[in-house]
Amino acid sequence: MKTRHFLSLALFGLSTILFKRRQPILGTIILTDSCNLHCKHCAVNNITGQMLSYQDVRKEMINFYQEGLRILFFCGGETLLWQEAGKTVRDLIREAKEMGFYLVNIVTNGTIDLHIPEADVIFLSLDGTRQAHNSIRGDTYDLILQNLQKTDHCNICIYMAINKLNYQDIENLCKLAKEHPKINSISFNFHTPYQGTEFLSLSREEKQIAVTTIKSMLKDNMPIFNLPSALDAYLKNEWSRPCYQCIVSENKQRYLCGRCVEIDGLCRECGYLFAVEFSLLCQGNIRTIFEMVKTYLKFA
Ligand SMILES: C[S@@+](CC[C@H](N)C(=O)[O-])C[C@H]1O[C@@H](n2cnc3c(N)ncnc32)[C@H](O)[C@@H]1O
Ligand code: SF4
Ligand code: SF4
Repeated sequence: MKTRHFLSLALFGLSTILFKRRQPILGTIILTDSCNLHCKHCAVNNITGQMLSYQDVRKEMINFYQEGLRILFFCGGETLLWQEAGKTVRDLIREAKEMGFYLVNIVTNGTIDLHIPEADVIFLSLDGTRQAHNSIRGDTYDLILQNLQKTDHCNICIYMAINKLNYQDIENLCKLAKEHPKINSISFNFHTPYQGTEFLSLSREEKQIAVTTIKSMLKDNMPIFNLPSALDAYLKNEWSRPCYQCIVSENKQRYLCGRCVEIDGLCRECGYLFAVEFSLLCQGNIRTIFEMVKTYLKFA
């Protein structure tokens, strides 16, 4: 991220804290819910099968920008399945950058060609090393690693959703992130128990083990993009939600924080650490702010 953009975001954060503003800064556009996988933990794939039209994506990007949002994510379903009349996600990213977004990132399952040099960060979902990952995402681990090998993108962040089937694989995945030449960092979320996926939730003891492991990996200087204070707040389940700084847009409908916001009781069980981190930051938690600056300097 350019330093002037970081400073502008810091100013945004400061005014949010001082004036208790509820202005969003991060927007996610869901391009489609179509997906080529059916992961065990996921409840948002292949519901309508619709692709957002190019005109509608563009309109929403313009709306977001005019409303002051400066960080943009494209997500799915499988994000990289999106295309229309020769336009691909790469074109969308390019256009978003031209509009002035500071950061334009994508989240992908990595089964489709990862040559997307326009993206600032590619969040690549890997839910463990081979055995754990495949038990959740089907037999896709080797294909994803082949795609990783082929790409020349230099800012790939592994995205792991921790659940009952993979929480013992955190250390192995951290090692892969550190040693693999194409991986820059790793970021964790915890399982959020949408209806039908409750069986994957961690017990309190398992959450404690997972958090202790991540913290110990952080001490070992693994390239982890999570903040320790957010891990503590998650474990205690003491943080304010929904997060007012994030908006999700799906099929022309807007959701504050996440599309999960309307599911009764789910926010109480939320495992999305980005929401915890944003929430702590925007409430002026000094420890979180300090850790954020430290993390920025580490990865800048
Ligand atoms: C919904 S997927 C969409 C993008 C792409 N298909 C992928 O898998 O990366 C975005 C992220 O949400 C995560 N996710 C899905 N269901 C989840 C759940 N119940 N709790 C926490 N994270 C979840 C996935 O693991 C993935 O990293
Ligand atoms: S690849 Fe992503 S959208 Fe598809 S089922 Fe898995 S988590 Fe859900
Ligand atoms: S707090 Fe936000 S991310 Fe977490 S479940 Fe609620 S809406 Fe979703």
